[in-house]
Amino acid sequence: MKKLWWFVPVAVIAVVALVARAGGPSGDAALGTQPYDNFETGASCAECHIDIARQHDQAMMSRSFTHHWDEIEYFELALPHADKVEKVAGVKAGCNGCHAPLAFLAGDIPPKRPAEGTRANEGVSCALCHAVTGHDGEVPFNFNFTVDPAAGAQGTRAGVESPGHEIVVNPYLGTAEFCGTCHNEKDPWGLWVKATHLEWKKSPQAAAGIICQDCHMPPAAGNSAPETGGVDHPDVRQHLFHGAHDTGKLMGAVEVRIHPSELEASPGQRIILTATVVNAKAGHMIPTGSAEERVVWLHVEAVDASGATHHLAVDPKGFEGEDLTIASADALAYQDIGDIKGIEGFAGIKRDGDVPAGDRIFRLPYLDEKGRMTVAQWNTAAFGTDYRLAPLEAKNETFTWALPEDLPAGAVTVTATVWYSKLVSSVADYMGVPAEEAAPVKMSEHTTMVEIKTKG
Ligand code: HEC
Ligand code: HEC
Ligand code: HEC
Ligand code: HEC
Ligand code: HEC
Repeated sequence: MKKLWWFVPVAVIAVVALVARAGGPSGDAALGTQPYDNFETGASCAECHIDIARQHDQAMMSRSFTHHWDEIEYFELALPHADKVEKVAGVKAGCNGCHAPLAFLAGDIPPKRPAEGTRANEGVSCALCHAVTGHDGEVPFNFNFTVDPAAGAQGTRAGVESPGHEIVVNPYLGTAEFCGTCHNEKDPWGLWVKATHLEWKKSPQAAAGIICQDCHMPPAAGNSAPETGGVDHPDVRQHLFHGAHDTGKLMGAVEVRIHPSELEASPGQRIILTATVVNAKAGHMIPTGSAEERVVWLHVEAVDASGATHHLAVDPKGFEGEDLTIASADALAYQDIGDIKGIEGFAGIKRDGDVPAGDRIFRLPYLDEKGRMTVAQWNTAAFGTDYRLAPLEAKNETFTWALPEDLPAGAVTVTATVWYSKLVSSVADYMGVPAEEAAPVKMSEHTTMVEIKTKG
């Protein structure tokens, strides 16, 4: 027995070391475990890493708490909802685990409004990402990352030195799982309301070893800290993090081609136009992530020889739940906004915003407990049919057109356009979100011709 006197302190040290390596608690359990002062500000990193800092300033992750729609949805919907309904009470703190992680870790809940200028405003900051050591459990989701801000900057590159900080070489930041800690989200009903990393895992890109960082932080030759002893590398990770808020990233991410069944036709005849729509560039679904509020749609119209425009409606395919994928002029949805705001007899607002009736919408409908479409991903009790575009998948959509009897002879030009709107326009209008958030971006367009012959 005497010989074992040393065992207890050694065991304690071993446990402490294990916890320290894992970086302490993660997810909900990390609430209030790290005061703000444990994290440097981005401005301090910018003294040496100028280009990376400027890139990050322009990326949405630096605005994840201050961006107008984030502020509106958290303070005007999620927070009042959490105070009212026990089932969703967890989002009062939980939204911040990903959007204002420094505030979450500091226990500053709810954070003050962005105008108050607290450190919640730093959003997903340099010091937060570069303090992440790994994640707890099998699947990365709901901010289950572990942090150790005292250890120095976590990075993937061995053999570099910094006059500003310690460097901890850790391959974790070079994995898709790191991104998945915030880009997968499970809601109070246990549904995957955000699954960008899980979608990616099933993609051909993942099978080929192409990860999030390769498309959102592409490597370029350069030096991340040229004035303070940084070394040139052929592959410095660019902190672009460009996604749906970058028009250039959206343009061409989906491709569309259209062709007619007949090259020549006569008035009164039926022709079929087939559009092929491809998710050509994303390593996940389009739309992904906040799919509850994005609208991606295919619009087809024909211009005849006299210059008149004919809007063509998509042919239904007959699958279950298809009605939610074809734009309607008068369908209403989002009634839960009225429940949250306590508006008696709230009928809802236009389900498809300004999308022209008859257009095909590539979407995953998020449904509340009463089966109504919702943009509140935390209030999602079920999903409709997933009709989004999978990575490198094409979908064919047909448009049967009974050519009008009075269609003039000459060329008809048929144009297919795929549009992307970050937020349903009716929700943007109703919630007072600046119109830029709902403004349609043209992802792709293609034109084909049919020659109209007079009957003879
Ligand atoms: C005084 C200058 C200075 C400051 C301030 C500074 N760094 Fe660095 N940092 C460097 C230099 C120099 C390197 C080495 C770059 C190289 O040679 O590739 C470096 C390297 C890094 C690396 C790469 C490590 C790797 O293994 O890939 C990371 C990550 C990093 N810094 C993050 C940060 C963060 C986050 C901050 C702010 C909290 C910060 N740095 C502040 C100078 C600085
Ligand atoms: C969303 C998380 C995230 C944020 C925010 C972030 N980084 Fe990084 N950073 C990464 C990842 C991931 C890598 C490594 C990617 C890899 O190697 O695959 C990295 C790499 C780096 C490197 C090494 C670059 C190289 O290839 O030599 C430096 C330096 C760096 N970051 C500094 C910063 C600074 C400074 C900021 C804030 C202005 C910042 N990072 C913000 C995730 C982030
Ligand atoms: C700490 C949580 C966190 C981590 C880790 C994280 N993200 Fe994000 N990311 C967010 C949040 C929150 C947003 C939403 C920003 C907003 O409010 O618009 C976001 C948005 C984005 C966007 C969308 C930008 C746009 O234009 O709409 C991209 C792209 C992105 N992240 C890529 C990445 C990649 C790649 C990684 C891993 C290298 C990563 N993120 C890691 C939380 C995180
Ligand atoms: C093969 C390249 C590729 C890979 C791999 C990839 N992405 Fe993307 N990502 C894109 C493209 C292209 C877009 C723009 C189209 C869109 O918004 O869906 C995009 C968009 C996004 C958006 C914005 C979506 C929205 O609706 O706001 C986020 C967030 C994002 N990616 C995160 C990730 C994460 C996290 C991973 C890894 C799990 C990843 N991406 C892997 C190419 C890629
Ligand atoms: C598990 C991490 C996580 C949690 C928890 C989370 N979000 Fe997000 N949120 C994200 C990511 C990542 C994105 C970007 C997704 C994309 O662009 O595809 C995002 C996007 C958004 C957007 C759209 C931003 C834009 O400008 O398009 C809003 C608004 C938003 N979240 C609000 C909330 C609210 C409110 C809560 C709490 C009810 C919440 N989020 C909880 C990770 C999270």
